[in-house]
Amino acid sequence: MARSVNEMLCCPSCKGELIHQADSKADRLNHDLLSCSKCDVSYRHFGGYYDFLGGEGLVFKNRREKFFRSVLAKVYTPLTNMMFLLCGGPKSARNEVMGRLRVNDGDTVLETGIGYGENLLWLARRSAGLQLYGLDIQEEMMSHCVSNLNRWKINSELVRADAQKLPYRDNVFDVVFHLGAINLFEDKGLAIREMIRVAKPGTHIVIADETEKAGRLFNIFTGSAEKVVPPVDLVPAGMKNIALSTIWRGYGYVIEFDVAK
Ligand SMILES: C[S@@+](CC[C@H](N)C(=O)[O-])C[C@H]1O[C@@H](n2cnc3c(N)ncnc32)[C@H](O)[C@@H]1O
Ligand SMILES: [Zn+2]
Repeated sequence: MARSVNEMLCCPSCKGELIHQADSKADRLNHDLLSCSKCDVSYRHFGGYYDFLGGEGLVFKNRREKFFRSVLAKVYTPLTNMMFLLCGGPKSARNEVMGRLRVNDGDTVLETGIGYGENLLWLARRSAGLQLYGLDIQEEMMSHCVSNLNRWKINSELVRADAQKLPYRDNVFDVVFHLGAINLFEDKGLAIREMIRVAKPGTHIVIADETEKAGRLFNIFTGSAEKVVPPVDLVPAGMKNIALSTIWRGYGYVIEFDVAK
């Protein structure tokens, strides 16, 4: 049975309990706020999701990257599909990652860095009764995602949050995956540990992003000079069956492992 949103969520900073403002007698009008009394902070529900970031968001290395990312947020699907042509076509590129998930009907699934929500559509077409959860750091991505999921009639619970600071309780997801942004994260190890924290023991975790071969192309647009190193060494000791493979005709990598039981 689906658990209520608040049963899944926690404060992203202290991981403590969140209280619906309406539950306190203080202000019954603020029923769309979740508050952490320990951190003395409230998170607002607006536009179809709880926003755990407020004024925070993606940090850009330079103006060129900011411009490139804002264009990408506006035309994400056609641009990604074009880029996926290099990787064997959009369908096969997505299948190469999504096909590695181990999903059963009724599972509780989390994607970090959800973009326009296309992976949730992929999942909803293949498995029944999934409880779908997703988050993204960019407001623009979130609003496209909300309207796509409404149009596709897919039920999901979205939040705006940072993949390195998840607002979910420990051990609540059967499936946890990430596709397409970990190369940019400031603390990739923390993002991986957060995915592990929220996953149930035994969960098969899948993390994919571009390799250096694609990174060199991206750097032309973003002005960045960073080299891509798949963060497989940051998977904590104790995880099982850790594997790194190359996908997308060499333009992508996937890291997979099982959370220790
Ligand atoms: C290349 S897109 C991939 C979207 C989606 N996973 C897909 O397969 O279509 C990467 C997404 O990650 C998001 N992102 C970047 N940094 C993030 C972070 N620290 N936390 C959460 N999302 C982040 C971006 O806003 C963007 O929507
Ligand atoms: Zn807190």
